Amino acid sequence: MKNLLEISQLSSNTAQQLIDRALVFKQATDYPAYKDYAVANLFYENSTRTRVSFELAAKHLQMPVINVDMQHSSEQKGETVEDTVKTLSAMGISTFVVRHAEEKIHQRLANILPPNAHIINAGDGKNAHPSQSILDMTTIYEKKPDLSKLKIVILGDILHSRVAGSFMALSKILGVGELVLIAPDQLQVANPIYGTKTNNIDSGLQDADVVMCLRVQKERFSQNEHLDLEKYRQKYMLTTDRLKIAKPNSLVLHPGPMNRGIEIDDAIADGPQSLIYEQVKNGVFARMAILEAVLD
Ligand code: CP
Repeated sequence: MKNLLEISQLSSNTAQQLIDRALVFKQATDYPAYKDYAVANLFYENSTRTRVSFELAAKHLQMPVINVDMQHSSEQKGETVEDTVKTLSAMGISTFVVRHAEEKIHQRLANILPPNAHIINAGDGKNAHPSQSILDMTTIYEKKPDLSKLKIVILGDILHSRVAGSFMALSKILGVGELVLIAPDQLQVANPIYGTKTNNIDSGLQDADVVMCLRVQKERFSQNEHLDLEKYRQKYMLTTDRLKIAKPNSLVLHPGPMNRGIEIDDAIADGPQSLIYEQVKNGVFARMAILEAVLD
């Protein structure tokens, strides 16, 4: 796997190997060293979890890691992303972890880099967030490994979510039994690549094994999109009563950042069924697996 651009590039074997490797790293007390492979984090959009976990993952693998400060980089003087990446490649950076608002930019970057360089997509607009879906599925698989028997629900702003898109793709590749996408019509995706759509939260949550909540991503709304957040909260926030519709041992995920009190109630986010901070923890191990896999 030279690059990680989209989940759709992965075979089911490769996807499973990444999950298995992440779980091996989670149990390990020492890690292999890849001291000759430097990583650059290029985050043109904000991030807490993804940027820090890629940095930690690289450090665990003894890879030199550079966090390029995009606010003070030469992008501000008009340099293109391509020229920034080529410049850093000339300095000897081997792996580029890139988050950018432009969809599909990673394929373009992969095309201009030398053969020994690697691109990892850390999120491109509404399109894809493949490392997030690997860590999400790792978290589910660790607790409930027979994915074919699971009903997984994604609840929230599916339309603007790159997390949802990559999770659908991974669910299809790995054969998740049932995937249900719950959103008001306004926030629903037109043609999901996997899963069934509903705007009915009660029927959608029925017998769910896993509920993944998503934030309303206002920053991705176009000028003519408007949402009544109070109505959304009343109809779609995951509350204690609503979670009772799912199976009693159901798991709750959220990729973060959370907007507490809008898509998820505090009692759920911090409750016994929540795996939200376990996701964050697994993010480091999943990203170690990804950094190692692109060097193969
Ligand atoms: N889930 C996620 O991508 O979080 P950050 O934006 O904090 O990286």
